[in-house]
Amino acid sequence: MHSFDIKTKIYYGDGALDRLTQIPYKKVMIITDPFVVQSGMVMMITSRLDEAKIEFEVFKDVVPDPPIDKVVAGVKAVMDYKPEAIVAVGGGSAIDSAKAIREFASRVGGLDNIALIAVPTTSGTGSEVTSFSVISDPQEQRKYPLVSESLLPTEAILDAELTRSVPPAITADTGMDVFTHAMEAYVSTQSTEFSAALSEKAIEICGTFLLRAYLDGNDTHARKKMHIASCLAGLSFNAASLGINHSLAHQLGAHFHIAHGRANAMLLPHIIEYNSMITKNSRSQKTYPRQVEKYCTIARLLGVQNFNTVTTIRALVAWVQFMLREMDIPLSISQTGKCTRAEYFKAIPDMAEAALQDACTPTNPRQPSKDDIMEIYERLW
Ligand SMILES: NC(=O)c1ccc[n+]([C@@H]2O[C@H](COP(=O)([O-])OP(=O)(O)OC[C@H]3O[C@@H](n4cnc5c(N)ncnc54)[C@H](O)[C@@H]3O)[C@@H](O)[C@H]2O)c1
Ligand SMILES: [Fe+2]
Repeated sequence: MHSFDIKTKIYYGDGALDRLTQIPYKKVMIITDPFVVQSGMVMMITSRLDEAKIEFEVFKDVVPDPPIDKVVAGVKAVMDYKPEAIVAVGGGSAIDSAKAIREFASRVGGLDNIALIAVPTTSGTGSEVTSFSVISDPQEQRKYPLVSESLLPTEAILDAELTRSVPPAITADTGMDVFTHAMEAYVSTQSTEFSAALSEKAIEICGTFLLRAYLDGNDTHARKKMHIASCLAGLSFNAASLGINHSLAHQLGAHFHIAHGRANAMLLPHIIEYNSMITKNSRSQKTYPRQVEKYCTIARLLGVQNFNTVTTIRALVAWVQFMLREMDIPLSISQTGKCTRAEYFKAIPDMAEAALQDACTPTNPRQPSKDDIMEIYERLW
């Protein structure tokens, strides 16, 4: 027996932020990052809370790849203020921080029943509808995906107006994160017709609108579409989970602070090759593993289907590489300038071990060995 549900109520479209004037809470804590406050974007939230006479406080210490100590500081702030709801405003880092803060305030501090309203300002992680929260331990150089139904936000508000200020490089990185979620969920061992339908729509939207949003940040139509795609892909992987693309990307974030979406994007061509077992030297076969057929469907959705299975997989890899070049995303670690060759190769065994243990690995369509993962990292240099 299977089940499928969407627990988070989703408000979306023009004026979606007005939902904040209707929420049934009188005391809320806004959890966000310094950019949202300094840019004045937070006023789009606070003006609505003021209008509804809702009391609020702002915790603005979220940093990218949220580390444990910031979560602890957030738990303390929540314990002191005792809000009825948390409004998380920002990218995946702000929403993941809020999820973890609420969870620990409940488990450790006994503050149950705090509602969580997630308001994403990037079109990327889909965290507003997932039961994942990715927390970093800088000392151990690890990123841990926490997975629990209790992390699911109560409500998500998708207003693409908030994404207009996202600069091109972050549009590119976060947009490729959306695409990677949709793809990994699609080929996951836990994929179902329900999750596949969500992935297919997200992939189709990325194919048409990601480059448009990158090239013109004021293309409102493209921004709106990508904001929906991000949520659709989130719903998909929340049901079907992810794969080793994310497992390997988490370690690149933890060790070298490569932005999450960027790490995913750089890995994607290598992971398609690994999972499909098709490289540029491959010849056609009589039969292919199930994930190869799925990759071919993705290629069809993107309009790059070719005359046979091998050439279609190659076209899919070429499409991803084309997107990376178009959006100025490096194709290799050496191009990022984040570390020396020696530093990178020294970290590979440790990264491979952690990737093997990552919560996203079990649902990958092909189970890797540590050597397999080390080889992928080596090729990425
Ligand atoms: N919970 C999940 O399901 C899930 C899924 C994938 C990734 N993640 C995690 O989410 C984090 C990445 O989130 P992200 O990619 O959204 O980036 P982010 O939240 O780290 O933000 C990246 C940068 O973009 C800025 N920014 C955010 N919104 C902006 C806006 N509207 N205009 C201008 N700048 C803006 C931020 O201030 C920050 O400097 C990682 O820690 C990753 O591991 C979580
Ligand atoms: Fe992701």
